[in-house]
Amino acid sequence: MSTAENVGIFDGRVALVTGAARGLGRDYARYFAAEGANVVLADMKGTEVAATEASASGSRCIGVECDVTKPKSVRALMEVVATEFGRLDVLINNAGLWRGMNEAGLLHCPDDLWEAAWAVNVTGTLRCYQAAVPLMVANGYGRVINISSMASCNGGSPYLLTKNAVEHMTMGMAREVGDMGITVNCVAPGISAFEAAVSALPDANRIVAGNSVKRLGTSRDLYNAIAYLCSPGAEWVTGQTLRVDGGAGPSPFM
Ligand SMILES: NC(=O)c1ccc[n+]([C@@H]2O[C@H](COP(=O)([O-])OP(=O)(O)OC[C@H]3O[C@@H](n4cnc5c(N)ncnc54)[C@H](O)[C@@H]3O)[C@@H](O)[C@H]2O)c1
Repeated sequence: MSTAENVGIFDGRVALVTGAARGLGRDYARYFAAEGANVVLADMKGTEVAATEASASGSRCIGVECDVTKPKSVRALMEVVATEFGRLDVLINNAGLWRGMNEAGLLHCPDDLWEAAWAVNVTGTLRCYQAAVPLMVANGYGRVINISSMASCNGGSPYLLTKNAVEHMTMGMAREVGDMGITVNCVAPGISAFEAAVSALPDANRIVAGNSVKRLGTSRDLYNAIAYLCSPGAEWVTGQTLRVDGGAGPSPFM
């Protein structure tokens, strides 16, 4: 259901947001719902509260516990989408591990941290894409958004390497589903104005000072870019990475 303020550009669509129990994913889910989409919020835990919050706009929103690294869990998630809504139009591959990842470097990077970064950020993105595409093909329409990071070109941490892989994977995905009515794009956020994000990044203020637009980003800044890429009008835009970072330099973490 749309309000006067929200034009309802996603009326009748079904959107799935991973990593939606908190942070940016939680806000994306709320914004999609406010613009008319029914939303499935997937996360390891805690999705019910976020789904109830997103439902306040009148859209139908449900929370599903899912570990995106586990094939069985992702298959079960898509079964819920199919059973509850019968279609899937938008997948936001937002679930990600980033806290503590930039400091790890490479020389002394612990194995468990390295493996977790690849499992969630890359394999999780791939698994959700693989499981979502058949539902999108059924309607001949789909929008997949993968989430990278502003500094993905800097290969100095497991986090940034995985986000670089996500951008490359986006191009490959876009090529293989382009003639099925499905676009695949990537959004690379700058540092957003979450206290957790800022406190986890001691360099946040220095990075922001180097931006063209000298403020932290907001979830709304990021959603606006995502919403454009998910709109029917963006059907000829695919395989792209859109940096939404206030004009940060290419390697702000260096
Ligand atoms: N916050 C920022 O400034 C910023 C900047 C650049 C990129 N990003 C990217 O945006 C995305 C969201 O960032 P955030 O700050 O909201 O992160 P966050 O840590 O607050 O939230 C991430 C969510 O992903 C979920 N998640 C982690 N592993 C999962 C798994 N295996 N299965 C399902 N869900 C899982 C977590 O439970 C959490 O709810 C991430 O991909 C992150 O890398 C964030």
